[in-house]
Amino acid sequence: MFKRHRRLRKNKQMRALVRENHLHVEDFIYPIFVTEGENIKKEVPSMTGVYNFSLDCLNEEIAELEQLGIVSIILFGIPAEKDVCGTGAFEDNGIIQKATRQIKRNFPNMIVIADTCLCEYTSTGHCGVCDEHGRVLNDESLQYHAKTAVSQAKAGADIIAPSSMMDGFVETIREVLDEAGFEEIPIMSYAVKYASAFYGPFRDAADGAPQFGDRKSYQMDPANRLEAFREAASDVEEGADFLIVKPALSYLDIIRDVRNEFDLPIVAYNVSGEYAMIKAACQNGWLDEKAVVTEKLLSMKRAGCDLIITYHAKDVAKWLKEEQ
Ligand code: PBG
Repeated sequence: MFKRHRRLRKNKQMRALVRENHLHVEDFIYPIFVTEGENIKKEVPSMTGVYNFSLDCLNEEIAELEQLGIVSIILFGIPAEKDVCGTGAFEDNGIIQKATRQIKRNFPNMIVIADTCLCEYTSTGHCGVCDEHGRVLNDESLQYHAKTAVSQAKAGADIIAPSSMMDGFVETIREVLDEAGFEEIPIMSYAVKYASAFYGPFRDAADGAPQFGDRKSYQMDPANRLEAFREAASDVEEGADFLIVKPALSYLDIIRDVRNEFDLPIVAYNVSGEYAMIKAACQNGWLDEKAVVTEKLLSMKRAGCDLIITYHAKDVAKWLKEEQ
């Protein structure tokens, strides 16, 4: 006797009854790029619908997000000037610090996640400081990430998200946050971050491409799986509260692995290149945007993540509202 699987698919109601995974607006973290300057709302050429905002144009955007029900954002900054050690990342008047204060003052319920890295602020475009041969120095870089995290927490950030992939970044940041009295601020670690070509459009958006070399000495080799367990395990030991896997779409297997191995909330980072591909195809009329984006984000939930950092968040929030 064959099995009648189609019984549970026969109509919309039955499919809804047995659906295993759902998208909720609370699942989404929306990335925002903030820049120095005035009256700027500039679209990123490779990322339709994503903008760089100056502070005076930011409130309108955050108000729209709130209205759509989006509860969390992750901030990236574009400073006016860069230097070798990325001073703009940890100044009290740095762009992220100013943006964070402004957002928390006007929208106290919005969860502000600060990306803690140097690459947008260093003249080298690297995520840490370099020696004269252009090598990115691990231990020397940690103090700058530490300073950045504390200054972001002081400005009011709700979550610190270190993304440099330096060894020991979680431990170092946890220590300095605790010393500064921020023991209640969680760390969302970019625990498993691959050296991916899918970050291309982000580097346009945040002006953070390496000026020489690449990030392969600190970000992971896309060929590796077991290394992801080691990376995640050390971050858990060092005190991470959330684990990010990045990118998401080509790494669904890794999301599942990390989900199975660890009990922390897992965050998938649906990166810029993944967004740009779909947007471009949809603009050409080659794909149905709502259908493919929904399918793609569901695949990440099915792989086991709890949260998704995605540039699609606003669109999805609108679609979810329409369905209510
Ligand atoms: C900074 C950082 C990057 C992204 C997020 N944080 C760039 C990089 O590592 O090169 C990429 C995000 C995206 O592509 O959407 N370290």
